[in-house]
Amino acid sequence: MIISVVGARPQFIKAAVVSRGFSAAGIEEWIVHTGQHYDDAMSGRFLRELGINNVFANLACGSGSHAKQTAQMLIGLEEIMLEHARRIKAVLVYGDTNSSVAAALAAAKLTIPIVHVEAGLRSFNRSMPEEVNRVVVDHLSDLLFCSSGQGVEQLAREGVAKRVIDVGDVMLDAFETFMPVAQQSVRPHFPGSSPFAIVTIHRPSNTDDRERLARIVKALGELRFPCVWPVHPRLDERMKQNDLPANVRCVAPLSYFEMLAALEACSCVITDSGGLQKESYWAKKPCVTARSETEWVETLEGGWNQLWDPLSEPLQSVLDRQPTTAWRPLYGDGKASVRIADGMREHLLS
Ligand code: UD1
Repeated sequence: MIISVVGARPQFIKAAVVSRGFSAAGIEEWIVHTGQHYDDAMSGRFLRELGINNVFANLACGSGSHAKQTAQMLIGLEEIMLEHARRIKAVLVYGDTNSSVAAALAAAKLTIPIVHVEAGLRSFNRSMPEEVNRVVVDHLSDLLFCSSGQGVEQLAREGVAKRVIDVGDVMLDAFETFMPVAQQSVRPHFPGSSPFAIVTIHRPSNTDDRERLARIVKALGELRFPCVWPVHPRLDERMKQNDLPANVRCVAPLSYFEMLAALEACSCVITDSGGLQKESYWAKKPCVTARSETEWVETLEGGWNQLWDPLSEPLQSVLDRQPTTAWRPLYGDGKASVRIADGMREHLLS
């Protein structure tokens, strides 16, 4: 049996498709939810929509400082791992959240093999908590699945001598699996057929400094078209205090299917999320990333994704630059979860 640890919104999406791969390959999986995301709009709704009904335990760790949140997860996860130590063959973690680093640390101390999905990504910005988490998880892992060849090369440069495999990106599996379902089942309540941008900004580096957040809101206000902004709960209060420009509409967080429908309907994406940079690429919509670097460097090719510093350039000028190269497939072929299940069988479970 393997334990997959999830906790934050994007991890439910990844787990939905990877679990299908495990189930098809006859691999027994228990899902443990740390409770990092707990609002229904951030967690329950995703689990229901994606059909994840095999959560074995929810640790309800909730929010807190990085140390407190991670420490609570460590304690809860260690208890579960100790209780079932004899049966656990591996612990699988996704991406770069505090839930992932806590699970990897707990498993490493109990000498349980660790599997990392989305390995080898780097922003080279250690002030991002996610970058610290990525480095730690990669260096503790025994089997590392990368989304592209760049990840494989980065791990080689860092001397990670464990089993590293480029399987493609599991988010593409999810995108391809659920986009047709979303198109059938979700009626987008977005501004008609006119162009509009989907906006998601939630990173502490953009939102903790009021002045920077105000600059971002002002830049959105200067755009020639409407913006629809599903607001992360950490920002809720702050957005209510900001005077919003007439073209910016804040809405509650979208479900995954609603986001897919929004991606299909919008004309561009403005974000600081990791996953959305890839999703807008797959939806063939130009993306502006409000950060000084990205770990998804392939999306920058041909200007499909552009980095934007809110303090230095008007957003409309960035958006006026259209992609200069034809769209080509990135991050695999949508079968990453099958390769992950195969890789687990071959290298860990045989
Ligand atoms: C986390 C991940 C980030 C990922 C994001 C996906 C880390 C370090 N960061 O960031 O990489 O992009 O998830 O969404 O793990 N909150 C609620 N309700 C919730 C969850 C959070 O109100 O259900 C609020 C709380 O005020 C909390 C804050 O959001 O303190 C931040 O939540 P947290 O889980 O710590 O980090 P995210 O910003 O969601």
